[in-house]
Amino acid sequence: MQLSVFTYLSLSVAGFAAAHSWVECVDFDKAPQIKLMEEGAKKNPVDPADPVFHPEFCKGWPRAKDNPGNWQVEGTTIAWNINAAVFLNDRSACSPPQREFKPQGPNTPIATAKAGGTITLRYGGNGHSRGKGANGNGDPGNVQVFWAGKKETELKTLDDLTDKTRIAKAGFSDESFALPADKSVVDPDFGLIDKGNWMTVTLPANMEPGRHMLVWLWSFKNETVSNAPQWSSCFDVIIS
Ligand SMILES: *[C@@H]1O[C@H](CO)[C@@H](O)[C@H](O)[C@H]1NC(C)=O
Repeated sequence: MQLSVFTYLSLSVAGFAAAHSWVECVDFDKAPQIKLMEEGAKKNPVDPADPVFHPEFCKGWPRAKDNPGNWQVEGTTIAWNINAAVFLNDRSACSPPQREFKPQGPNTPIATAKAGGTITLRYGGNGHSRGKGANGNGDPGNVQVFWAGKKETELKTLDDLTDKTRIAKAGFSDESFALPADKSVVDPDFGLIDKGNWMTVTLPANMEPGRHMLVWLWSFKNETVSNAPQWSSCFDVIIS
């Protein structure tokens, strides 16, 4: 059966509106941001400091990201809608602008780390951290990070994202600063305020010095699969 273009567009638009998040920073200094958010929340419980407006805490940037970035544009260019792409037989792991490495300017440097060290990814929860979740059932799913196993080597397709290449896995909102802080409030009238979601990733101790490409993948339940790949982001880390 072939779905009409209209059906496809409706599906993709519905999917798009339902949930999307992408890695906006590869290595974020979380502590001072959370302090700002806690202080902001005391003044206005629905409007804490938004990490999007604190690029000074970002020490490493993803591929093709501007600083400052326009999140409305990024959500359609560098965020990769896997479901919509697979529907068109495109199994790429990354969005087109993130598919190859390009040198990054001084305003958006590549993250640097030591082998065995950590990086702290940041992405927006965008209302999906609890309650309605990513799929309407309260489960925001999980986030994973993959690595090809050697430097300057790309993970190109979804088939490259396997148990063997996975280096980290966590719940989508394990590290989330969400308001209201009361976790029993799952679906507040004004929407969940959760722009500050993080994933702390311990890098493999056997990474050799040089540039390494990584893929972040957010999976959550679709109509048929409990843990379907949905959105991805691609970035590099320089191991010193
Ligand atoms: C759900 O996800 C699986 C695995 O990615 C995919 O094969 C399937 O087409 C998806 N179903 C829908 C309805 O999107």
